Amino acid sequence: MLNRKSEEYYQRPFSRVKSVAMAVPLAQTTLLFRTSLLLSKNALRSFTSCIPPSSSSSSYSSSELHRKQWRQPVASVLEFGGVKIGREDVVRDDPTNNVPDSIFSRLGMQLHRRDQHPIGILKNAIYEYFDTSYSNTFDKFDNLCPIVSVKQNFDDVLVPADHVSRSYNDTYYIDSQTVLRCHTSAHQAELLRKGHTHFLVTGDVYRRDSIDSTHYPVFHQMEGVRVFQPDEWEASGIDATSYAAEDLKKCLEGLARHLFGAVEMRWIDAYFPFTNPSFELEIYFKEKWLEVLGCGVMEQEILKRADRVNNVAWAFGLGLERLAMVLFDIPDIRLFWSNDERFTSQFSKGQLGIKFKPFSKYPPCYKDMSFWINESFTENNLCEIVRGVAGDLAEEVLLIDNFTNKKGMTSHCYRIAYRSMERSLTDEEINELQWNVRDQVQSKLKVVLR
Ligand code: DAH
Repeated sequence: MLNRKSEEYYQRPFSRVKSVAMAVPLAQTTLLFRTSLLLSKNALRSFTSCIPPSSSSSSYSSSELHRKQWRQPVASVLEFGGVKIGREDVVRDDPTNNVPDSIFSRLGMQLHRRDQHPIGILKNAIYEYFDTSYSNTFDKFDNLCPIVSVKQNFDDVLVPADHVSRSYNDTYYIDSQTVLRCHTSAHQAELLRKGHTHFLVTGDVYRRDSIDSTHYPVFHQMEGVRVFQPDEWEASGIDATSYAAEDLKKCLEGLARHLFGAVEMRWIDAYFPFTNPSFELEIYFKEKWLEVLGCGVMEQEILKRADRVNNVAWAFGLGLERLAMVLFDIPDIRLFWSNDERFTSQFSKGQLGIKFKPFSKYPPCYKDMSFWINESFTENNLCEIVRGVAGDLAEEVLLIDNFTNKKGMTSHCYRIAYRSMERSLTDEEINELQWNVRDQVQSKLKVVLR
């Protein structure tokens, strides 16, 4: 299921905090209380990206050429509503920072703002539904800066202090007070405070995660919020919460029909820190129930802090990749980032129904690696290394064996699948990647290879 882990983490019962050690112990963050230069200025600013320098492939040896092809060029400067952000503001060799270059290279790409890209086409189709159903009353934001404060990302939406999503293992921290937003809910509170009562926020969100065909550390979400005034529910004779919940369900069922046609749907009770009651919508698609979004009636505390004590509101958040993979028949989440014309040329503005035709399937290559783990080992940290070395050539990292010996030492064996979406890989190239991964796993994770 798409974004299985990441999209579900707000639903994990909050007492069941993952018992893994964080990638960087939080205690170390007391070293620095440097207020980020980004924070005060960028809150609701829009941002424009600087296109990464184009690469030319003139005089490179074959392995250099391969490296150039699979490493995305890193933009040196991004611009956030007039504030310039350099690589050194986002990626730093500092214990409070866990953002790799591969993530910095995705900042500013904004797939959701490309009208010919499946993510942009889907965003526009959802806009169209809201514009028609609500006579253009929803304000739309798709250019809010993805660098936000811990307060915006977590505190403002009531994410508990010990919630797993706050860990360095799950979230990208720029410093102890600044993160790459892990959900578009990070903008709810501020927009409410600014007086918006009907809005949609679309943006790129960032999460440290596992590697497989449906997980990628950057993906896109759309958040929706609608606030009601007392006169709206008073006339109906039902209580405010039930009124908002009913309206929410009606709105989202309409959206699902707009995107998928006449589908079967069901509502599942859920848990999110920011809503109560909370629900998930599932649709029956290709003989499976597919979770499409999370939503609920906004916690009164969020409205109260925005000076809206007499109001009630609903909110929802949906993952655009998950929907786009189904709607366009896209089999691997890495394809969304492909610049290969055989992918990009298949989509056009306004065409939601088009089915992707795979241009070819290159063979995967599997490499196994076994090691004794230590207390601080996490799979996300391993995946971060694999992505750092192999980039989008890493298709899957799968735990295939796990045992503990009599001395209490635990061994993990991972199978890494390397595959390009665009070409055949050479043995030489894959071996080089694998040696690199082995080296870094040993030196950075301090595990003992077997
Ligand atoms: N922020 C949630 C997530 O990323 C999704 C979500 C669920 C957003 C419920 C909402 C909501 O606004 O009401 O998992």
